[in-house]
Amino acid sequence: MSEFNIALSPGDGIGPEIVAGAVTVLDAVSKKYGHKFNYTEVYMGGCAIDKYGVPLPQETIDICKKSDSVLLGAVGGPKWDSQPSENRPEKGLLGIRKALELYSNLRPSILKPQLKDASPLKDEKLSNGLNVMVVRELTGGIYFGKRTKGEDWASDEEKYSVEEVKRIGKIAFETAMLRDKRVVSVDKANVLESSRLWRATMEEIAKDYPEVTLSHMYVDNAAMQLAINPAQFDVIVTSNIFGDILSDLSSAIAGSIGMLPSASLGATKCGMYEPIHGSAPDIAGQDIANPIATIVSAAMMLEMSFGLTEEAKAINNAVDKVLNENYRTCDIMSEGMIKTGCKKMAQLIAENI
Ligand code: IPM
Ligand code: MN
Repeated sequence: MSEFNIALSPGDGIGPEIVAGAVTVLDAVSKKYGHKFNYTEVYMGGCAIDKYGVPLPQETIDICKKSDSVLLGAVGGPKWDSQPSENRPEKGLLGIRKALELYSNLRPSILKPQLKDASPLKDEKLSNGLNVMVVRELTGGIYFGKRTKGEDWASDEEKYSVEEVKRIGKIAFETAMLRDKRVVSVDKANVLESSRLWRATMEEIAKDYPEVTLSHMYVDNAAMQLAINPAQFDVIVTSNIFGDILSDLSSAIAGSIGMLPSASLGATKCGMYEPIHGSAPDIAGQDIANPIATIVSAAMMLEMSFGLTEEAKAINNAVDKVLNENYRTCDIMSEGMIKTGCKKMAQLIAENI
């Protein structure tokens, strides 16, 4: 038996519902495999503003740092739109990424055959499937660059050091070694100086991975290529902002943003795991959100931070089983399927562990 300390950060909007769903499934895993998961709930985002006046209380950082991993729901919502920019809910998320030095964000998009109908692409575009891993740099670039505001202007700085690009590049190549050994580095090197540094640094790293094929794509073209021929990609490595945008696109192609997990990792085994979607305040509290992205994020946590490969597989298999039995939340609903709420979906997956 192993014991793990998990910080739970349900956050805002649908966050509490989907995290509860993931806990239902984790509890089933602990029962079946005899592990002990100790949960500590923390406040981050809008809920932390309501309770503490700030989106990321020190207590939250301390608990997360002491935990083996963090499982996060989502943050943000219109309720906090009038907050000053330095006190927005999103600042909590960015702050914890920085505090835990989670510089590498892995966002897999896989088209499940059961969800072909939920993809906005025509069948012919999907005939070769989709299985891409977006490796997004997470603690640098324009998200953390200098912000300046004048009377009638504002600016945000996109800045990368060679060191920052190197460490994310290494993760991308290591990831590719475990997959199809192809890396596409996405940038805007025809315009941006930071992208030219990015590209040159990727070329340097590639020398250490002779088995991996590296190619480069401008971000505008990459968006188009994802839409017209998604099967061509194996690993995409890109900056914070481009990765944010392209991972939403690749997730939509996979059927729904409600399906896709992510892992944010740094130098240590303690990672943060979260669905790539947001807090969806318009459907919060209605028990209709899709908990699968958070549930499979928990599976990534078991595998990547705890080394529980078999247990992670059990979760993914259970998700497939429930989808095969035609249960669908409304975001992935199609004709003839059984409409299923958030709680029920999580219970069904838990029962199949
Ligand atoms: C994401 C989200 C966040 C981001 C927001 C909520 C700050 O969109 O995780 O993709 O832009 O990184
Ligand atoms: Mn995003």
